[in-house]
Amino acid sequence: MDRVYNYSAGPSCLPIEVLEEVQRELLNYKGKGFSILEMNHRTDDYYEINDDAMSMLKKLLNVKDDYEVIFMQGGGYSQFSTFPMNLATKNDLTLYTLTGNFSEKAYIEGKRLTNAKVITSSKETNFNFIPKITKNMVDQSAKYLHITVNNTAFGTCYNELPETGVVPLVGDMSSIILAKNYDINKFGLIYGGVQKNLGAAGVTFVVIKKNLINDKITDLIPSMNNYSVQLSKNSIFNTPPVFAVYIVDLMLHWVERQGGVAELSKIAIEKSNLLYDLIDNSKFYKGTAVREDRSPMNITFTTGSEDIDLKFVKEARENGMINLKGHKAAGGLRASLYNAMPMDGAKKLVEFMKKFEKDNEV
Ligand SMILES: Cc1ncc(COP(=O)(O)O)c(C=O)c1O
Repeated sequence: MDRVYNYSAGPSCLPIEVLEEVQRELLNYKGKGFSILEMNHRTDDYYEINDDAMSMLKKLLNVKDDYEVIFMQGGGYSQFSTFPMNLATKNDLTLYTLTGNFSEKAYIEGKRLTNAKVITSSKETNFNFIPKITKNMVDQSAKYLHITVNNTAFGTCYNELPETGVVPLVGDMSSIILAKNYDINKFGLIYGGVQKNLGAAGVTFVVIKKNLINDKITDLIPSMNNYSVQLSKNSIFNTPPVFAVYIVDLMLHWVERQGGVAELSKIAIEKSNLLYDLIDNSKFYKGTAVREDRSPMNITFTTGSEDIDLKFVKEARENGMINLKGHKAAGGLRASLYNAMPMDGAKKLVEFMKKFEKDNEV
């Protein structure tokens, strides 16, 4: 079977160039006579990959020298409890915004560990927009304000980062890392799984401002979750996911070859606008997020009928386009157009959508 276009929200498609590079090197990594899958993590070969991936991520994110990169495991989900443990203690005030299922999950974990308060929410309208955050909503005694920068299930993202004063901004960037031109220096910490824009499942990135590493509270944190411990061991405290870090490194070089975040942000807007323009000009499809907060990564829409949505998913699959069903928390349809999705993938989907509309409109 030929390769299909894969609109999965994650794990997602990878660039063919990267897959071919993995294939070429799989049996014999750089002529060393063994596979990357067989590489011991306490060797110069792995240190080189690990260090390169960290410095490439810092470079592509354009963060200043007072930021550190940590590679961890457990996905975005494990960070929902890991960052509160590291940044606050039980009685500390921490702030959350609810803009989707993942921000709710982050809040639930944060509440277990800190005095967490929700400052704003779009739950009442099924998370179809990003509520504005003004500076006077951000209690200056809080240890952090958490936002989900891109809401994978509901297809919304922050176009402007909130002004938080002295309160560090913590951002879940699982589904928008290296795909939109945010100033990462405005964050105290960002995190996410790499399996959408940055590689295959297995690595969790954390980029943290050094002054947020609080030694006073670190005794209470399990070593595996402790940013200070992980940093002191250069993210090789225990056996890291060697293969997954290697793919992150290949992906970062691919991102650089595409022109970095500046170029990929532009391409993401172009690709997503192909779909949004069609949706906006159609009576058959309805976008589910408000226009000004729409995500360039996850395009959420519906035909308004559950049965027709299912038919859409089925016929798309028969035409070589897979994973278009919406997230179970949101329903409907969703096309994820991460960095590795080629422009032709967006164009092919638009052509299919036009034909499907013609064949099914009443
Ligand atoms: C925005 C966001 N945060 C967190 C998660 C959970 O991440 P993981 O599955 O890596 O634990 C996801 C997963 O899709 C996500 O989209």
